[in-house]
Amino acid sequence: MSTIYIVGAGPGSADLLTVRAARILARAGAVLYDRLVSAEVLALAPEGAELIDVGKQEGRQEEIQALILELLEDCAARHATVVRLKGGDPMVFGRGAEEWLHLAEREYEVEVVPGLSSAVAVPELAGIPVTMRGVAAGFAVVTGNRMSGQSQQWEAYAHADTLVILMGVAKRAEIAACLLRLGRAGDTPVAFIERGTLADERVVVTRLDEAGGAEVHAPAVMVVGEVVRVRERLGDLAGGHALVDLASLL
Ligand SMILES: C[S@@+](CC[C@H](N)C(=O)[O-])C[C@H]1O[C@@H](n2cnc3c(N)ncnc32)[C@H](O)[C@@H]1O
Repeated sequence: MSTIYIVGAGPGSADLLTVRAARILARAGAVLYDRLVSAEVLALAPEGAELIDVGKQEGRQEEIQALILELLEDCAARHATVVRLKGGDPMVFGRGAEEWLHLAEREYEVEVVPGLSSAVAVPELAGIPVTMRGVAAGFAVVTGNRMSGQSQQWEAYAHADTLVILMGVAKRAEIAACLLRLGRAGDTPVAFIERGTLADERVVVTRLDEAGGAEVHAPAVMVVGEVVRVRERLGDLAGGHALVDLASLL
């Protein structure tokens, strides 16, 4: 009988994988992995394991998603341990819940292994805590790729003390304009953390009324809120060294 593990690979660096995830990966017969899973993490699978890149191509999401489900079932017929490896936490976006339901409905044995979500870990390792007493009493995590230009869907999130937006780079101008329209102040600090925790991490700090024009590339986590200023304070304490180097210390 095969077990399919839906595993969170964490935000990138292999040190940020859970011990449980590393143990399961080490005995995987097949690993189906997403685009944001680093080579360093994949290297933990045993020699001879089938490594299948199922990172979705632009515009072909539905087709590839159907293929992933087929491949999972096919691998389960041939291997005792199948790993569906997803970036960050497997249930934070990325369709993990749909895959879980699909497999459970077909009576596969499924186990979920949580991972460190980029929504919290990436800002944190860039010197931006998502909450802080007296600064931010809570945070909201939303996807930016559903931005349709309508403010209604953002009303619930616009005034979260800290707003963390994943998959928002392409729509950053629309997101910023929408938050301004909903009353968020133009001088609210905003950070984009590109390729967080990886050796080529890059951090761009700006303000909300300038965020639309920021030069930034996906994948990045966008953080809106006063907590962004903590990074600067930590930087000052570190003798002016850019905190962008933190990732390389891991
Ligand atoms: C499909 S979502 C998956 C999120 C993932 N399940 C998690 O919990 O981190 C992909 C988005 O997560 C963010 N992301 C994931 N890993 C990242 C990293 N290392 N650096 C920056 N952003 C990252 C980006 O916003 C990216 O577009």
